[in-house]
Amino acid sequence: MLVALYPWLKAAHVAAAVAFVGGLLAGAMALAAVQGERFPPSASAAFMRVARAWDRRVTTPAILLVWALGLTLALQGHWFRSVWLPAKLVVVLAISAWHGVQSGTLRRLAGGAPTHPKGRHGLVPLAILAAVLAIVLLAVLKPL
Ligand code: HEM
Repeated sequence: MLVALYPWLKAAHVAAAVAFVGGLLAGAMALAAVQGERFPPSASAAFMRVARAWDRRVTTPAILLVWALGLTLALQGHWFRSVWLPAKLVVVLAISAWHGVQSGTLRRLAGGAPTHPKGRHGLVPLAILAAVLAIVLLAVLKPL
């Protein structure tokens, strides 16, 4: 039964991962925009409320779904015996943890906390992209 479901679970896993990565990048770019002091404080808080709502309603449920479906696939396909999956999980854990940090920042700024104009916030979306590239290469090519 689960064998027939496997491709559907995998499709749902990839769709949830796309929603998660999209939301993570959108949040990172929203933060880079306001932290760069391009908006007056009241506009920043309004912008952050929109970004925070998307994070809470879409991005957070998506990463929970990615993990639930990914673990189901891993157990069903006996993938924990391979090396690519644990290697991929190290990178997935890192971006999941980063998502936690980013959600907290969005929540504080949506509540009106001051922004930090200093720092290279624009590099965060690039670092996320590099991590996603590593995850996708490991998952698709299974080189190890
Ligand atoms: C942002 C996080 C993640 C992304 C972008 C991602 C991406 C992908 C992609 C693109 C595939 C399709 C591979 C293929 O069909 O060739 C896949 C499959 C898979 N993923 Fe993930 N994944 C993520 C998180 C996870 C997590 C947390 C787990 C496990 C706990 C996991 C376990 C798996 C497994 C077991 C497969 C099935 C491999 C197969 O049957 O070919 N993934 N993932």
